[in-house]
Amino acid sequence: MDPRSEVLLRQAELFTGQVLLAGLPADDLLAALPDAIGWSWHAGEQATLQARFPERSRFGTTPPETPFETAVLFLPKSRELTDYLLQALAARLAGKSLYLVGEKRAGVERAAKQLATYGTPRKLDSARHCQLWQVQVEQAPAVPVLEDLAQRYELPLADGPLQVVTLPGVFSHGRLDAGSALLLEHLDDLPAGPLLDFGCGAGVLGAVLKRRYPASPLLMLDVDAFALASSRLTLAANGLDAELIAGDGIHAAPTGLAAIVSNPPFHQGVHTDYQASETLLRDAARFLRPGGELRLVANSFLKYPPLIEQHLGPCATLAERQGFRIYRARRSS
Ligand SMILES: C[S@@+](CC[C@H](N)C(=O)[O-])C[C@H]1O[C@@H](n2cnc3c(N)ncnc32)[C@H](O)[C@@H]1O
Repeated sequence: MDPRSEVLLRQAELFTGQVLLAGLPADDLLAALPDAIGWSWHAGEQATLQARFPERSRFGTTPPETPFETAVLFLPKSRELTDYLLQALAARLAGKSLYLVGEKRAGVERAAKQLATYGTPRKLDSARHCQLWQVQVEQAPAVPVLEDLAQRYELPLADGPLQVVTLPGVFSHGRLDAGSALLLEHLDDLPAGPLLDFGCGAGVLGAVLKRRYPASPLLMLDVDAFALASSRLTLAANGLDAELIAGDGIHAAPTGLAAIVSNPPFHQGVHTDYQASETLLRDAARFLRPGGELRLVANSFLKYPPLIEQHLGPCATLAERQGFRIYRARRSS
């Protein structure tokens, strides 16, 4: 059981009714709270919850329509995303309780101050390196409009400006990452056919790919519902289209790809997690067609080339700048 769930269950009498668990971990909490429902924006956790507790959890960027009497937010990483989520929950909880639970090292004490917008926050418990806070929502705020919280910036590219739209909590919110910028300069000579932007975030790589290779179908995959919503907005802002896939890892992608392009993930929550990236490198060959290409940017210190060479083929370094490298490898024909 996740330590945050353990802390909730120390006060289980507060959560016996119709409680919405927002951003819940994929553990046994729904078994312990039979009237609770979940809201997840992580496709992997949602898939695990759906398999174990069918129809008890919804995936998306807005709370489920199902009525709830109280809600618990499991603290996410981003402060701006926390603001959005608290408002989205408080909007449905006039005169009722809103709870926040999180690890101390994830900054739950600081985040509890964000509850003060809705009433007087009270710390209910502190255990397992976590804290549980509660606020009585005095006056329900307006339902927040996610798109209004988007940050927009323009990239001056050789083939014309590109609009990028990012939402709270999405990688590189409001600015272009230096690694992605380097990869944008090295997207030439990709094989024709279906292209995958793996870990698409706000969709900047995918949008540039679609503009440069309009005849190639584009797929964009991410584990995070807010990233997919950002990608959708970025595509729309540039009059482009793609198939968006909510999935945890490369195994959610179709096979027969002409190229996989990625600035792969290397952080998750407060922990560093290379698992999705390592699985991508190990299994890319199964998703590429013969002659298909993997092209990615990574921090120079990450030992990716040996993994790529072991599982896909010779790995070329196309460029290096500011601690990032561009790698290219092809599946043999
Ligand atoms: C380094 S960011 C790159 C975002 C975007 N492509 C860019 O260049 O700005 C990595 C992305 O991978 C996503 N991600 C993390 N774990 C993932 C997983 N297991 N499966 C798919 N995507 C994942 C994150 O949500 C994030 O959007």
